[in-house]
Amino acid sequence: MRPYRIVLTRPPMPAAREKLEPYAEMKVWEGPGAIPRGLLLEWLQDADGLFSLGDVRVDEELLSAAPRLKAISQSSVGYDNVDVEACTRRGIPFGNTPGVLVETTADLAFGLLLTAARRIHEGWEWVRSGQWREDASFPFGVDLYGKTLGIVGMGDIGSAVARRALASGMRVIYHNRARRSDEEALRTAYADFGELLAAADFIVVLVPLSAATQGMFGPAEFARMKPTAYFVNASRGKIVQTEALCDALREGRIAYAALDVTDPEPLPAGHPLLTLPNVLITPHIGSATRETRTRMAELAADNLIAGLHGRRLPACVNPQVFGS
Ligand code: DGY
Repeated sequence: MRPYRIVLTRPPMPAAREKLEPYAEMKVWEGPGAIPRGLLLEWLQDADGLFSLGDVRVDEELLSAAPRLKAISQSSVGYDNVDVEACTRRGIPFGNTPGVLVETTADLAFGLLLTAARRIHEGWEWVRSGQWREDASFPFGVDLYGKTLGIVGMGDIGSAVARRALASGMRVIYHNRARRSDEEALRTAYADFGELLAAADFIVVLVPLSAATQGMFGPAEFARMKPTAYFVNASRGKIVQTEALCDALREGRIAYAALDVTDPEPLPAGHPLLTLPNVLITPHIGSATRETRTRMAELAADNLIAGLHGRRLPACVNPQVFGS
């Protein structure tokens, strides 16, 4: 008899299942689609733990439907879908998966930038559709070498993107809530937000979504960018005002957007972003490698197991619930 009951909002990676199995009876939503809210609340009535995968809203309503909940673990670094203060008020530790996805997400962000600049995805489409002939020439891309990259959100992932950009001969400037003390070692320079928008040839956005960052890229921000600017978003779609981005791309106020995240997500068929020629979009795959998703699953499982046992979570967003 396993001592705990847990709810999983999607089938977990085998690495997480193996870790959790000895401790808990699992109720797993197998789909299709996201778990219906009503069913989730019903399942949580006698649950000791919630293992959250996907964009599940964790709020007062959910917490009050789950009177036995000892811990919540989410397999992601971002947690804008979670009311952490509400968890803390109820003494419920909430764990996420920072650290383990830094290099993988930086690869994707820099990969988007490079792919868009050199039109790699368009080149492949051109070849595949039989347009590669001796008398036809493919539209030019732009160089990274010698250009300025502006990173908005200089945490661990931002620093990892900066390393990649420096290796490609770019100059790197950044904007962050707090100026970094290791700027010199990172070979980057701080810029205020407006300066960065005006100076950068490429902008990569990596800030977490919060009340302060929601919609921070709107008409005024796109208007400050160079008409040749490339805009990359690898954090959360809601940081950008989608309509303003579409207008800026359509009217040539910026050159190109490469997005791993969008608002809404997924994009419905026929969405204006899908009709523009100067956009590259991937389906929110920043951390989606076998190795990294396995590490995230393991850490998320370790978080939940620790919480079920009343121990401090290895990666806890609200450690104050443990009294410190
Ligand atoms: C993260 O970990 O936050 C990734 O964006 C996946 O949601």
